[in-house]
Amino acid sequence: MAFSFNFDIPLQTEEETNDKEKKDDNSKDVHLKCSESSETVPTKMKNAIEHEPLLDPLSHIENWVPETITIGALPPLLFLNESVFEKTAPEREDSEEILAKTLTQNSDLITGVYEGGLKIWECTYDLLEYIDDEGETFAGKRVLDLGCGAGLLGILALKRGASKVDFQDYNSTVIEQLTVPNVFLNCEEDDETEEKNGSPPSKRKALNSSQKLLERCGFFSGDWNSFLTLMQNKTSLPKYDIIFTSETIYNTDYYSSLHSVFCGLLAEDGFVYLATKSHYFGVGGGLHLFEKFVEQNNVFLIKYLKDVEQGLKRHVVSLTFKK
Ligand SMILES: C[S@@+](CC[C@H](N)C(=O)[O-])C[C@H]1O[C@@H](n2cnc3c(N)ncnc32)[C@H](O)[C@@H]1O
Repeated sequence: MAFSFNFDIPLQTEEETNDKEKKDDNSKDVHLKCSESSETVPTKMKNAIEHEPLLDPLSHIENWVPETITIGALPPLLFLNESVFEKTAPEREDSEEILAKTLTQNSDLITGVYEGGLKIWECTYDLLEYIDDEGETFAGKRVLDLGCGAGLLGILALKRGASKVDFQDYNSTVIEQLTVPNVFLNCEEDDETEEKNGSPPSKRKALNSSQKLLERCGFFSGDWNSFLTLMQNKTSLPKYDIIFTSETIYNTDYYSSLHSVFCGLLAEDGFVYLATKSHYFGVGGGLHLFEKFVEQNNVFLIKYLKDVEQGLKRHVVSLTFKK
């Protein structure tokens, strides 16, 4: 059974969308200051935790066949397809029960329960294409993949020399069963390249390289408010040179917590790269409302970097601190 992309289906024309956005605009008070936290989060959200992955997280996924994404000159990126989760759902340990719930409700999104991380959303590809066009290297940068799902943006940064990449998703199941395995799948690829250039890696060597990889990565689940608190309680507050976030502004109730994470964790000269659809049908969020929210808070400057006109309009924008 295929997942249904509930709010992806373009049921309205672009003109109707603009009318609807204007209406939503009038009906929402999206005013909130940088340091304040969300007051309108709809349900009880999951508390943030840091995950400590096993050194061999791929051992339980032996029979899965990874897929590969190749975009322009970017290194090929491997990932586990969401259909694997559907097929193996009954046998998998899933304390959040998101696999069962998405299947029974036939939905990609259950607010406060499952926020869509098991599949790769199309704006991730837009952002990867933008990075390919710009030739960004990430050498020595600290990167956060916020709302990472499969984690392809963070994985690319890791492969391209980022000094540290933290991956955050709402669901612990996504982090443990998709993001972490994907990071290791791509790292194994790097080991194989090394192998071709020298002797095959011994078990000890492989474990060492896993250890080194894990030192460059952090994995977090839970909602953005408590994620920010968790980071702020660390002995040294991490500040990121780059925050990637793709398809995360569909729900206006989350705007204040998302904005607070940007405020609290972006380095002074850092960039947020945000990829999004113009409008999320059936959920109500979109770039117009988010832009308005950001403007009202008067902390960040938004710049349009890439527009995709085919089908439902999509965009890549950057946010930087106003000087
Ligand atoms: C639609 S998915 C997009 C996944 C991925 N970035 C992509 O483009 O394929 C939205 C992601 O944002 C995260 N997310 C949404 N709302 C959140 C919230 N309130 N707190 C924490 N994470 C949230 C979820 O974990 C989810 O993975």
